[in-house]
Amino acid sequence: MPSDAETKAREVGAAKAPPPYPAHLKVEKPPYRPGVMRVPVDRYFRQEYHDLEVERIWKKCWQWVCREDEIPEVGDYIVYDVAELSFIVVRTAPGEIKAYWNSCPHRARRLCDFDGTRAREFRCMFHGWAWGIDGAMTDMTCGWDFPGTRDEVSRLPEAKTGTWGGFVFINPDPACESLAEFLGELPDHFEKAGLDLSKRWTQVHVVADVPCNWKVLQEAFLEAWHVHTTHPQLVYPPTDRAVAGMRWDDFGNWIRSAPALPTDEHKAPPGYSAAAETEQAAVNPRYDWDLNLDPPLKVQPGEKAIDVLRARSREVLRGVIGEAADDIPDVHLAAGEMCLVWPNLHPWGGLSRLCYRFRPYKSDPNRALMDVLYLSPWPEGVQKPPPAPAHVLGPDETIGDAPELGQLARIFQQDLANVPKVQSGLKTSQLGYVILSDHNEAPVRHFHDLYDRWMGFENGDYLAERSGL
Ligand code: FES
Ligand SMILES: [Fe+2]
Repeated sequence: MPSDAETKAREVGAAKAPPPYPAHLKVEKPPYRPGVMRVPVDRYFRQEYHDLEVERIWKKCWQWVCREDEIPEVGDYIVYDVAELSFIVVRTAPGEIKAYWNSCPHRARRLCDFDGTRAREFRCMFHGWAWGIDGAMTDMTCGWDFPGTRDEVSRLPEAKTGTWGGFVFINPDPACESLAEFLGELPDHFEKAGLDLSKRWTQVHVVADVPCNWKVLQEAFLEAWHVHTTHPQLVYPPTDRAVAGMRWDDFGNWIRSAPALPTDEHKAPPGYSAAAETEQAAVNPRYDWDLNLDPPLKVQPGEKAIDVLRARSREVLRGVIGEAADDIPDVHLAAGEMCLVWPNLHPWGGLSRLCYRFRPYKSDPNRALMDVLYLSPWPEGVQKPPPAPAHVLGPDETIGDAPELGQLARIFQQDLANVPKVQSGLKTSQLGYVILSDHNEAPVRHFHDLYDRWMGFENGDYLAERSGL
């Protein structure tokens, strides 16, 4: 049955109308386990938690390490660091990627200090032992001096590897489930959505070093409720509640935030957030412009901001992907759709280019790295450009100084202004826990439910209680 919009479009002889809501968004799960949740604060700053996370999360979980097109040729490799763990991820054949623990089996020097291309071997810079990119030893300098040890150093210890959507994952645990089992319905979801992330081009890659715990940092991007206070310039006018209502669908190791549909049983209640005062006020902050001049995109009397923004987005996209822009459902032009894949990968869905990753920095529970990527669509049949090199922000740069992030640089700046203050406040909290809400913070609760499961805390048996502290 054609929808009313499709019928109308045919009647007036217009181009075919895109479906208002794509089918994949109609997969609705019950609301995430209802209720508020109290999370003890010490997991955000105590060293014991950090150390246990390394053992139980970073040594056990599938985690995204790079994009496939960062290592396109045999011998290309990247160094992936998480906490004090380090791995070399190398393309060993056109369709094969391997990962090795980045530690020389002799006296443990890091084998690789930097990413590299076209390597044929990894030679340790300390005493010169070497292994081919297939992990087999090729040179044991002064081997005569190590009687009876050749077998144990003959291969570099490996981590498991897997790929999906152009992302390369590793899992250091030799007994882990397969990546396909771990991801569950995720690939199917993106396929049904018509989104092939492997075809996206890394247009932007910014890495920020942030003075807070990796979970604090990640949680700042796990809910949209903070928008009305932290990013007041982004609120929508009251005439369009569709973009303000979100729902959370739980798929096990990942959770999806999606715009609520008119048919949803579990949409957000009214009064979800603040709203812009006028239609024009909802459009203005999306542009950098001289306030003495007229706004670059004007909302005409009777128009709704949301329609103006959608039309403008479709126009811009048409310049990139041609007529395919006309097949994009309206809802994708107005509202975000984001997935969190445990423990730290955030590929957005819909039309968004955004993708985040969060990692603890070395041994410090008070410091974390955030990767922001823009994975942009690229026309079929045209050679994809190489991925943008990572712009690692220096100590004197803020994320607002990353012009390649466009207007989102200011949004990230607002988010990253909060998180060190959260880190500080956690240490002086008198409640001793934070409170996560039933609806808006459901994805944060989902994250902590998984955290507790991987850490072995299912029954509230937190480290503090066990150690009597
Ligand atoms: S530490 Fe690598 S060869 Fe000695
Ligand atoms: Fe934010």
